[in-house]
Amino acid sequence: MNRILVTGGMGFIGSHTVVELQKKGFEVVIIDNLCNSQLFILERIEKITGKKPLFYQVDLRDRNALNEVFTKEKPFDVVIHFAALKAVGESVREPLRYFNNNLLSLLNLLDLMQDHGCKNLVFSSSATVYGAPDVLPVQESAGFKKALSAYGSTKQMGEEMIEKVSAASEIKAISLRYFNPVGAHDSGLIGELPIGVPNNLMPFVTQTAVGIRESLTVFGTDYPTPDGSCIRDYIHVVDLAIAHVLSCERLINQQQKSSYEVFNIGTGNGISVLEVIAAFEVYNGIKLNYNIGEKRDGDVPFLFADASSAENELGWKAELGLEEMVTSAWKWQRKLKED
Ligand code: NAD
Ligand code: UFG
Repeated sequence: MNRILVTGGMGFIGSHTVVELQKKGFEVVIIDNLCNSQLFILERIEKITGKKPLFYQVDLRDRNALNEVFTKEKPFDVVIHFAALKAVGESVREPLRYFNNNLLSLLNLLDLMQDHGCKNLVFSSSATVYGAPDVLPVQESAGFKKALSAYGSTKQMGEEMIEKVSAASEIKAISLRYFNPVGAHDSGLIGELPIGVPNNLMPFVTQTAVGIRESLTVFGTDYPTPDGSCIRDYIHVVDLAIAHVLSCERLINQQQKSSYEVFNIGTGNGISVLEVIAAFEVYNGIKLNYNIGEKRDGDVPFLFADASSAENELGWKAELGLEEMVTSAWKWQRKLKED
């Protein structure tokens, strides 16, 4: 049985990936320091899959503690590295905290992978590395633009570190550049758990619908887009999780074309903020309280993926649409209120 180490496996994308890995028969070991997740997710994963993954509450910056997990639990066929801080605005205010957490974690991980002969890595990157791309849909070959936030810098630097290490060692790696992950598992048992006021659109929508927030503000409707609101490429978190399973299989089966590969993970469809709101209202049969506000600093008008490389190479394509995204997100939010 293949064994996968999942860092940040208690978080939003990590927990959905653990579920898909276990469904496929992979054995999973999770490392997470729970700085942005909660222990009950472990029982929820067990409820969905019938199996509780092994879990270590460890901060990846603690090299000795991480070394102990590798020593005890190796060999790992693949490491999937989700663990990171991810709030863009916070990273602008507290850049050192982001560099410290995201880069030290990755450094320790790469170092210990080498020490313990662990050869395969899947890295959580982000469409944020593209900034405002010149050509849309954006392809992987588009260069990095200067990062507007420390968070974005950590993803660019992370990719660069991994590329150089893979060129100089036995480590093979795949970076997945996620577009806008939303939605939840259709059981409603796991989903996104933002701490405090959400920064992202979908949790703000669901928290407004459930009454935690009074009103959603649409950040600008005077963009040069068809309805004036920003366009993004929303991707269902379960589709995204499956892209990780396929990446593990590609690495294990040595199907890579080079030691370091990068894939965009999006649907290829650009959807506006107003379209997300309308879909949420229609598919859930609920009226959302929202207003139109000022533009948010740093938002680009359009961002959507050319995901053909993931389709051709990984054999991955998004299957779930906007309806599944907004209905699953709403189911998760309602169930959270019941708990
Ligand atoms: P999340 O916050 O829900 O999950 C991250 C997990 O990592 C959390 O459980 C947190 O406790 C853990 N963690 C953070 N720092 C750690 C450390 N030093 N040691 C151990 N555990 C640590 O976030 P998510 O949305 O699941 O994101 C997962 C990855 O995907 C991140 O790398 C993020 O940057 C990337 N990503 C997310 C999005 C998005 O919109 N959600 C978009 C693009 C990329
Ligand atoms: N938006 C609103 N109101 C809100 C929140 C968001 O109108 O209350 C709008 C934003 O202006 C944007 C769209 O909804 O047009 C999506 O915003 P999100 O904050 O949900 O997502 P972003 O596209 O800004 O960023 C996300 C992740 C980043 C990641 C990036 C990659 O949060 O981590 O996608 O594309 F880097």
